[in-house]
Amino acid sequence: MRKKIIAGNWKMNKTGAEAASFARDLKLKTLNINKTEIVICPPFTALAPVYDMLKESRLKLGAQNVHWEPAGAFTGEISVEMIEKAGCKYVIIGHSERRQFFGETDQTVNKKIKQTLASSLCPIVCFGETLQQRQDGKTQSIIRTQVTEGLAGLSIEQMQRIVLAYEPVWAIGTGVTATPEQAEEVHNFIRQLLSGLFNSQTAEVVPILYGGSVKPDNIKELLNQQNIDGGLIGGASLKVDPFVEMIKVAEDLSN
Ligand code: PGA
Repeated sequence: MRKKIIAGNWKMNKTGAEAASFARDLKLKTLNINKTEIVICPPFTALAPVYDMLKESRLKLGAQNVHWEPAGAFTGEISVEMIEKAGCKYVIIGHSERRQFFGETDQTVNKKIKQTLASSLCPIVCFGETLQQRQDGKTQSIIRTQVTEGLAGLSIEQMQRIVLAYEPVWAIGTGVTATPEQAEEVHNFIRQLLSGLFNSQTAEVVPILYGGSVKPDNIKELLNQQNIDGGLIGGASLKVDPFVEMIKVAEDLSN
């Protein structure tokens, strides 16, 4: 059985002090959780204070973005080594907000994944269609292109170190969640793609998270789907109690 992963994507929210206080609280409230992988992805400026809080726990730290070059004249960018040394174990790559507002493409996503895999970090790679694309019946072709180009040139061994996240753009921050059936259909399709691009064993082991308005009252039916291995959670990860509630749902389903 694939391990469940609950990852909080805080986006551009929380100062270092606010994030550290959240992390302290989260650590205390998840002492009994021992199967679910818990990840929090604060903004860059909060990575160090959160790491200080989490370092003796099993909670993991993730960054929200990274550059594809190892170092150099890239004003405003952050390297893999910097986030790794700050204590990160994960990094989100290709979030739809980065694709939409900051010009990320499947090609930059691919370069970022490769640079990340040269370190110990685990990339959480995001894919998803817009509402228009879904209404035009293009969901599968969009996902196929994003997956094929985003993951191009990776070896089986590299692919097995990646976490994927299906995040329909129309469900992010809108309060509209994909139904469990809609999400499962795409997750299953992604697994078939992985099987064709890599092999069936790889398709079986790669965790695929769902993201887009995941909340305490809908997470159970999503995680109950065969191919949904966890959640990448934005808005509902910003307060400790609902986040812990969702972690407990994942933990219960692992028992
Ligand atoms: P949301 O965001 O849970 O606020 O919809 C999810 C994400 O963008 O990762």
